[in-house]
Amino acid sequence: MLNRRDFLKVSAAVAAISPLSAVRAQSSSSDSSSDVSGANSLRAHAEQHGLLVGCAVAPERLANDAQYAALVAGQINLLVAENAMKWHALRPAPDKFDFTAADAILAFAESHNQKLRGHNLCWHEALPDWFASTVTKANARQTLTKHIETVAGHFAGKLHSWDVVNEAIDPASPRPDGLRVSPWLELAGEDYIELAFRTARQADPKALLTYNDYGIELDTPKHVDKRAKVLALVQRLHASGIIDAVGVQSHLSAGDDVSGTGLRDFVRELRGMGLQVFITELDVNTQKAQGTVADRDAEVARIYREYLTHMLAEPNVTAALTWGITDRYTWLNSPRYARPDGQRQRPLPFDADYKPTSAFFAERAALDSRPAAAGRL
Ligand code: XIL
Repeated sequence: MLNRRDFLKVSAAVAAISPLSAVRAQSSSSDSSSDVSGANSLRAHAEQHGLLVGCAVAPERLANDAQYAALVAGQINLLVAENAMKWHALRPAPDKFDFTAADAILAFAESHNQKLRGHNLCWHEALPDWFASTVTKANARQTLTKHIETVAGHFAGKLHSWDVVNEAIDPASPRPDGLRVSPWLELAGEDYIELAFRTARQADPKALLTYNDYGIELDTPKHVDKRAKVLALVQRLHASGIIDAVGVQSHLSAGDDVSGTGLRDFVRELRGMGLQVFITELDVNTQKAQGTVADRDAEVARIYREYLTHMLAEPNVTAALTWGITDRYTWLNSPRYARPDGQRQRPLPFDADYKPTSAFFAERAALDSRPAAAGRL
């Protein structure tokens, strides 16, 4: 958790970094001479095409790792908190809110002329320890409303968008509508999603209100089924005029076939409803991939290139964020996703030494493939 000292350090780091003084990231291997800072950055290439390019960040790293902070400042124009705006981070106790860490991210974003997404207001995970013993059927709706009023109210007018509800559809749910059997569904009732979106709209009329989910990217039977259920939910919210965008998490894996047309059709359907689409959490899991590091890098880059090029061809896809920026800090190196051979995963645009990976060049090329006709933001 970010303490006051770390917060001051983020502020100091903010003051010290200018785009020009940003660490010059030198690339490895095949592109050994290329400089990816300034005009060669993801950020500059995205801005040329009117796009937002983003990554998830952790405030304690912005405070304590100058190279990381410089990379985020130089490469990115849209941030999202990897964990710092989740319930367990903001809610130390039922009657307490702590915005220290989240505010540090906002300060960083503002001082680098970057936008910030909120993630998230309602999810079945990352609930604080006190949740289970405190929240009941009698108080769940009021607890959810108070959280959203306070949190979205705190950041009102300052955020690009909010993931209002995260991962509410579960294909394994016994319900025909696929709503996940979660504490929110069970305690707050089946219209908790509408309640969350309505409350968020009132608390921050400016943020683009987003429904965010995973497992909807491919044309496998499971993804096709989940995508249909997500679409039905989004249509329900759209009919009430309380949704602006859909977040497609895009946690992909080596070997995935990302050439299917199902996701494209889904994006076009959303476009017909006037909704934007954000790629919110892109990375490529190589936990089970065989081959050399170079083989695996090539596979990660293939998926970045194919997936992003297809998606960015759709005009209502306006932002692409990766779930982190450097392989040094990726959730895919947690024990749950560790490779059996102990080698690190390399799912992000920069490696653990902050050098651009093949995925960086694939991402930048995909940003450049944005059709001019897609228009500017
Ligand atoms: C993950 C973080 O990356 C981890 O650090 C944390 O321990 C668990 O959550 N979908 C989401 C994100 O919407 O919030 C999750 O982030 C990854 C999956």
